[in-house]
Amino acid sequence: MLPGLVTDQRLFHAPIAGLSGLTTVTVADLTTYDDLQKLAQSAIDQAPTHRFVLAGLSMGGYVAMEIMRRIPDRVAGLILMDTSPHADTVQASENRRTMMRLAEDNYDMVIRTMLPKLLHPDHLNDPAIADTVIAMAHDIGTTGFCTQQKAIMSRIDSVPSLAEIRCPTLVLCGRDDVITPVAIHEEMRDAIPNAALRVIDHCGHLSPMEQPLAVTDALQHWLTHTLLPQESSR
Ligand code: MLT
Repeated sequence: MLPGLVTDQRLFHAPIAGLSGLTTVTVADLTTYDDLQKLAQSAIDQAPTHRFVLAGLSMGGYVAMEIMRRIPDRVAGLILMDTSPHADTVQASENRRTMMRLAEDNYDMVIRTMLPKLLHPDHLNDPAIADTVIAMAHDIGTTGFCTQQKAIMSRIDSVPSLAEIRCPTLVLCGRDDVITPVAIHEEMRDAIPNAALRVIDHCGHLSPMEQPLAVTDALQHWLTHTLLPQESSR
């Protein structure tokens, strides 16, 4: 599993526990390179050596799409959560530069500014969710934040390669995700030949934390009813 900006394995706490009877989950460290190509290679280096199911959320999804271009035959199934195949617009990159400058002076303020975009309004004051996001962001720190933002800015447009993805794919997002809205996930579902879409109600951008049961259930259901039957008939 590949986490998003300023998050780590805590983002996937619920699915990791829920899927433990079905599979072993490992979470890659995506804090080390400020270049998405290098980040993808580092995630490959951290991945199991045999075939595996690849899941990425947001920035983790950007990395997953690059991995699909590099080692498609190693990936048995793909899960793209709350992410986008599009490269940054000029404005989006400019906003990231502003946030990086701000982070050098006042990283706390950057975290406070990001929080309402990351979470559904009803989850902003839920300490179990919001405090965990703040703790993850602090642990990744200003340097990690800036490294990840630079890596995100360096990503290429993945739209042209979506049609090349051959493995079963689950596209999943929160219905109220304002960073990567539902329409982008419908676009990915339509462009990837063997894809299904699940939209999770009452949920923002950090779906596995905001709706842990619904997301875990969706992953479990897709793994058992879609991926495993197709993988065993290969
Ligand atoms: C993330 O959650 O990884 C980020 O919001 C992605 C982005 O800023 O493009």
